[in-house]
Amino acid sequence: MTHKNISQQQLPLYGRAVFTEGVPKTSIPENPMEPDTAYQLIKDELALDGTPALNFATFVNTWVNDWAKRLATENLGKNFIDHEEYPQSNLVEKRIIWMLGELYGTQFESADTDPDTAKGYYGSATVGSSEAVMLGLIAHRKNWQTKNKKNPNRSPLDKPFIVLSTHAQTCWDKYCKYFDVGALYIEPKEENNYGITGEQVKALLNTPIGEYHPINENDPTIQDICEYPDDYPSLQTRTVGELVSAIGAIVGTTYVGSSDHVQDIDSHVDSYCQERPSLNVDIPIHVDAASGGFILPFVNPQMNNPLPFNFKDGKRIQSINVSNHKFGMTIPGMGSVIFRNANVVQNNWGQSKINNL
Ligand SMILES: Cc1ncc(COP(=O)(O)O)c(C=O)c1O
Repeated sequence: MTHKNISQQQLPLYGRAVFTEGVPKTSIPENPMEPDTAYQLIKDELALDGTPALNFATFVNTWVNDWAKRLATENLGKNFIDHEEYPQSNLVEKRIIWMLGELYGTQFESADTDPDTAKGYYGSATVGSSEAVMLGLIAHRKNWQTKNKKNPNRSPLDKPFIVLSTHAQTCWDKYCKYFDVGALYIEPKEENNYGITGEQVKALLNTPIGEYHPINENDPTIQDICEYPDDYPSLQTRTVGELVSAIGAIVGTTYVGSSDHVQDIDSHVDSYCQERPSLNVDIPIHVDAASGGFILPFVNPQMNNPLPFNFKDGKRIQSINVSNHKFGMTIPGMGSVIFRNANVVQNNWGQSKINNL
């Protein structure tokens, strides 16, 4: 039997013709490849990745039981975003969002008593907290644009900004780059347990636009970003808060696991807004509970307030994200964004109703 008479299946995998001909890396191959060859080839390539079970870096859950794997495998063929075709998957998503809304104090419409029939839009499953942070912030940016139209002092040059800790996870910086939003950083201090405080946030919001200095002196000023001319008259009278579309508060930072002082930030932001009734300033807080959202409510329920970041206690908290695939015991990738009520998204998107993102 010559080599030519042996079927490809009988040959050792890396002795098959496809490997002597070469496997193209940059173009679609001329000839098909046996499925088991493709499987082994890609499996061996992926072996060069890190080992998930040894990855403690992003806190992602690395083990699920066989039932979870089975369920995931059985549903691989579904295009999850197609709610028309896969309404039952959408109901499962809505029930998860509802449970999280219950946990964090979402204000459901009185007519909405059951996730299966609810008309209000309360949040979304995502591929992780990065997407969830972005969806929350996009909603707030949109609302800022709508509300800012009512600010009598506004300039057509105004741009939206967010306030955030220098300890914010990289997805916040990505959001700013992708969606053309400026970042105003605050440095958490050791004496505040590495969390940013209400006083720090309010001081920043109260700063006249012309006097804002970024922490990193190489970063642009607000004046640079908005391209206000030097003689723009309101640089000293308008304050930074008028340009802020959202404030980020982290519950469980990626670096040291500390939390921003969410309730303190909430009351200081509220007082900043209350002090300016004529400007229609209404700054929302987005809580990044990627890591802490499934820990704090459960580790110590006897604590004075194990949920210092919920919608009930925080007047200005409009959205919360959590990573189901971190401490929610779910296979990657899954995160969630939860809204305070059904008005955060649907009132200001230029469409009559949005019921998915
Ligand atoms: C505080 C915080 N926010 C956001 C993220 C991003 O989460 P994901 O990896 O689920 O996209 C992380 C991940 O470590 C995080 O710790």
